[in-house]
Amino acid sequence: MTEKILAPSLLAADFSNLKEQIEIVEKNGAKWLHLDVMDGHYVPNISFGSLVLKSLRKHTKLFFDTHLMINNPDLYIEEFILSGAENITVHVENVTHLHRTLSYIKSKGAKTGIAFNPSTPINFDMINYISDILDMILIMSVNPGFGGQKFIKSSLQKIYSLRKFIDSNNLDIKIQVDGGIDENTSIEVLKNGADILVAGSSIFGKNDIGQATRNMINNLYKNYMI
Ligand code: DX5
Ligand code: ZN
Repeated sequence: MTEKILAPSLLAADFSNLKEQIEIVEKNGAKWLHLDVMDGHYVPNISFGSLVLKSLRKHTKLFFDTHLMINNPDLYIEEFILSGAENITVHVENVTHLHRTLSYIKSKGAKTGIAFNPSTPINFDMINYISDILDMILIMSVNPGFGGQKFIKSSLQKIYSLRKFIDSNNLDIKIQVDGGIDENTSIEVLKNGADILVAGSSIFGKNDIGQATRNMINNLYKNYMI
């Protein structure tokens, strides 16, 4: 079984106190930090930019998993990598030359991810054409833009089909799931083959962030695969 990873999403954190909160998730076993970058154009919300990554980079060893929900992501990729992003995920819906974009991310030394919104079908042929430069596929289980939304159940079928495709073709690509992940939905997505779980409200939204991190990580170690 491949390693399962929890990626707490900073979006749900108290922004007056970021350093302390990421120290808590790190001390309690998290290895990744999910960073939701929103521009108010691609999604109807504005979050934060590369300056926040740059400031936090000095204080943590967490893997900076950077989810770009912005128009013209190509213009900002280098800046995010220079600010500490170790992985850049772009949305397939708003990248014109996907192969070029992923190659560019690789050339700058970061890992690559592509995200699919809830209504976007996965084109498996397309995955074949980019599989050598693709490290992760992000299945959105809410419409991007906000934390705290309800998990969209149809994403489970998508995760399951993708798991089957990846395994039957022996591809080295991780499946990440993002949106509405809590102690219950995490079990469903793990059963269907997810590798990396993004969780905002169910970690940073809780009173005891450390306990919430440990609970979610404990879930990852149980083998739920169907
Ligand atoms: C939504 C973001 C998510 C968000 C998840 O557009 O991509 O990463 O932070 O938040 P929760 O876990 O609260 O659904
Ligand atoms: Zn995200």
